[in-house]
Amino acid sequence: MYVVGIDLGGTFFKVGLVDTESGEILRKVEWETRVAEGKEKVVKRMAQAVLEVSNGEDYIGVGIGSPGSIDHDNGIVRFSPNFPDWINFNLGGTLSKLLNKPVFVENDANAFVLGEKWFGAGKGHEHIVALTLGTGVGGGVISHGKLITGKDGIGTELGHVIVEPNGPQCGCGNYGCLEAIASATAIRRMALEGQKKFPESEIFSAEEINAKAVFDAARNGDLLGQMIAERVVNALAIGVANFIHIFNPSIVVIGGGVSRAGNILFAPLREKVRHLVMPSFKDTYTIVQSPLVENAGILGAASIVLQNL
Ligand code: BGC
Ligand code: NA
Ligand code: ZN
Repeated sequence: MYVVGIDLGGTFFKVGLVDTESGEILRKVEWETRVAEGKEKVVKRMAQAVLEVSNGEDYIGVGIGSPGSIDHDNGIVRFSPNFPDWINFNLGGTLSKLLNKPVFVENDANAFVLGEKWFGAGKGHEHIVALTLGTGVGGGVISHGKLITGKDGIGTELGHVIVEPNGPQCGCGNYGCLEAIASATAIRRMALEGQKKFPESEIFSAEEINAKAVFDAARNGDLLGQMIAERVVNALAIGVANFIHIFNPSIVVIGGGVSRAGNILFAPLREKVRHLVMPSFKDTYTIVQSPLVENAGILGAASIVLQNL
């Protein structure tokens, strides 16, 4: 049985044809989202991408993991910080009409945690906290084996917990959100802000000024790189310690582009979180990097369909 999973990101969207038995992705494409071109165009290109990966193969439905507050029952994006004009947009209905297939929409990070539970680090776990560190910072929580969604289905916005009061402004309008410090967008912003004071930083000789350049520099002992890395780790540690106190998870899975920094991020993060949690929590959890890496979003989106059909 095949399902199509769409991982909709602020910069790119990925579409994959997933074999639900094996969890294998048979074909996938990654295209630029180009939010600025308008939502109708984005959805049309999504439909084209689905046709390309399905390539005549029959599939039972499409799952979309989308950033923002999602009305899951109606496939509607109510609000999404990095998609300014996607207000009450019927994403599921629009794509379903173009493809003539059922389309299910869920918050991207909720999809991510489902994907981790079915195919990744969360296998066998009933209590999972998952974070995606990408264009934005997303959160997904499974408690007693079930996805937590809240009354309106829009809960677990873990990227918008405030970790630096009076900190930098977030895409959501507030100040000091975890997303405003630990997202790929924020890391790039902090690098650019540091350029005047640290023009010699190795970050600025990288091909692209991004999170990878910052962590690579930090690994090499670059001062600006290390300062930014430390700020990211501190923000994440405060967030994760809070989530551990609230949800008492057995595993905390961290994915998204920024997580690819690996040990330079995870080693100090584990140490700081351990320091911040109450004694009774100290040996109750592990913090791991998502093993699904770039496929986590597609597999997560595919699991939404499985959950619904
Ligand atoms: C949004 C979340 C989303 C996350 C990751 C945040 O800005 O508020 O809904 O899960 O970005 O895309
Ligand atoms: Na969420
Ligand atoms: Zn925010």
